[in-house]
Amino acid sequence: MKRRNKITIVGSGNVGATCAHLAALKELGDIVLIDVIDGIPQGKALDLQQSAPLEGFDCNIIGTNDYEASTESDLVIVTAGIARKPGMSRDDLLNTNAKIAIEVAQNIAKYSPNAYVICVSNPVDVITYITYKVTGFESNRVMGMGGVLDSTRYRTFIALELGISFEDVSAFVLGGHGDDMVPLVRYTYAGGIPIEKLLSKERIDAIVERTRKGGAEIVSYLKTGSAYYAPAASVIQMAEAILKDKKRLLPVSAYLKGEYGESDIFAGVPVIIGGNGVEKIVEIDLTEDEITALNNSFESVRKVLSKVNNLI
Ligand code: LAC
Repeated sequence: MKRRNKITIVGSGNVGATCAHLAALKELGDIVLIDVIDGIPQGKALDLQQSAPLEGFDCNIIGTNDYEASTESDLVIVTAGIARKPGMSRDDLLNTNAKIAIEVAQNIAKYSPNAYVICVSNPVDVITYITYKVTGFESNRVMGMGGVLDSTRYRTFIALELGISFEDVSAFVLGGHGDDMVPLVRYTYAGGIPIEKLLSKERIDAIVERTRKGGAEIVSYLKTGSAYYAPAASVIQMAEAILKDKKRLLPVSAYLKGEYGESDIFAGVPVIIGGNGVEKIVEIDLTEDEITALNNSFESVRKVLSKVNNLI
């Protein structure tokens, strides 16, 4: 008989705990919440568990400081690390979060050698690269969450601008999860209609710019941390695609081996994501301007990556 899926979430801050909540509501599997701080994962896990009779989910949720409890997880979500404060870029988190990522990756490899891994900690494309190298896992099993979040922000702004259902906007954002990410306007549709037929260039440009700074806009409000509801929902969409073998076509930070002219780097590209993780990277036709923008974004990821090569 098939047992429930086992999901470990490393980091029980706002993103990690919200991931646990959403995963439980969707009954994706049993959940292990891990954190270095004693008491926080235990308390949050118990609190979440006590919502089960009300929400009607059958998932066991435990909180711990010990990776032993994560043994043989099917999926590990890495949210551990510090978050941005106003004025900081995601890249400013590198030194602290890279060290944490190495330790986390060693524990994933030790306790859950067959797991799929979704990285969330920033700078996410580089943290995902570190996780890939340190775990030694096949590249289809390690991926980063950035594009789904950037795309949902972009889709939100378009739906608000047009006054239409959020469900009716389909779009994706490629490249690194940084200020030069590439929202692909030409591939953006509202109810099947190209967005360029519905909005002026000026309005589209403003939405693209707001999308690029979407994370910083939230940080500027929260002041002590960064976004977590939309990030967690983005992670859970990817988790569900893997655990239910949905074969979603989503922008995912994936290991490139020549696709889009890049190799040995993680960055956001359209991916078919299912039971085997990153099952296929989909290459699409791009104009020269789009290629330039994407290369620029890849270059930014590479710059940050070059700072950690001595660590791994
Ligand atoms: C953001 C962080 C999670 O974009 O990178 O909000």
